[in-house]
Amino acid sequence: MRVLGIETSCDETGVAIHDSQRGLLAQALYSQIALHAQYGGVVPELASRDHVRKLLPLIRQTLAEAGLTLGDLGGVAYTAGPGLVGALLVGAATGRALAWALNVPAIGVHHMEGHLLAPLLDPDPPAPPFVALLVSGGHTQLVDVQGVGDYRLLGETLDDAAGEAFDKTAKLMGLPYPGGPQLAALAERGRAGVFTFSRPMTDRPGLDFSFSGLKTQVMLAFERSDRSEQTCADIAHAFQDAVADTLAIKCERALKQGNARALVVAGGVGANRRLRARLLALGERLRVRVCFPPPELCTDNGAMIAFAGALRLAAGASEPLAITVQPRWDMAGLAAVPQPVPAK
Ligand code: KG4
Ligand code: ZN
Repeated sequence: MRVLGIETSCDETGVAIHDSQRGLLAQALYSQIALHAQYGGVVPELASRDHVRKLLPLIRQTLAEAGLTLGDLGGVAYTAGPGLVGALLVGAATGRALAWALNVPAIGVHHMEGHLLAPLLDPDPPAPPFVALLVSGGHTQLVDVQGVGDYRLLGETLDDAAGEAFDKTAKLMGLPYPGGPQLAALAERGRAGVFTFSRPMTDRPGLDFSFSGLKTQVMLAFERSDRSEQTCADIAHAFQDAVADTLAIKCERALKQGNARALVVAGGVGANRRLRARLLALGERLRVRVCFPPPELCTDNGAMIAFAGALRLAAGASEPLAITVQPRWDMAGLAAVPQPVPAK
């Protein structure tokens, strides 16, 4: 089955077509970064309007790249939550209406399930049970994955998400929006050991996270410093190390307490090179496979929505005609999918 995937939950318009036999056929992404940069963060109403402007042209472009027409689609998947309600509604209304017009099934996809399943687009995908580390701008979660749709939350952040911590820390150091990747780039030029920040909540048992205190530590270090470029890079380096270390320590605990055969990392912060190196070293030490999607599939995209939607449609799930979105949506409530993972 060929499934069109639509992602509009935040500030990226993503479209892709996944074929259950041949894998990903085409994808297109439009980032609204330039639109929101002058405001220092995402402006929800502007995001919705821009999705309206870009979605149909991107769908046409993706179909053309795949050499297909609308009639070749067997289903339509769209992000139904969590996310910004207006932005979600653009993708949901377009996707649901398109599926109705084509007389094919539609499926609303959980954005974080999309992220979680993206590593399975690999030609040699890991098989459950595995532990998933979801690290995005809005979420930091460790999830026990026993099968597609069979998720148990092991731990999550009590305050800021890892990506949010990167973004806020970058902002307080005066870096332009979106801060996460900028801070990571700055950290590459930093020297190890000049600054040291704590590894929050690693001194007590449990798998929850807290990143807001780290941001305050950086703020104090930054305010007391000479704010030279080298000093900023040194601070960024120490901050990035603290986040990567904290995430890795909790991943190690999660892997040791369960029956997981692999660690799967997803979400925007999964593109971070320091975190990747730290987790790969952990995997080698524990003899556990560590899987990352390629960086472009870590951040928001239509491919992960097309893929997650294809798995659920193949298992017989579909939406009624109503256009429904869920700005807040607990992933643990999703139905399990009794299906082997199809070909990529
Ligand atoms: O998954 P994603 O694209 O969107 C959400 O669903 O939130 O993640 C975006 C987050 C942002 O906070 C961004 O700063 C962060 O991922 N991010 C990074 C890197 N690339 C993106 N954080 C650290 N290092 C990176 N290389
Ligand atoms: Zn995301």
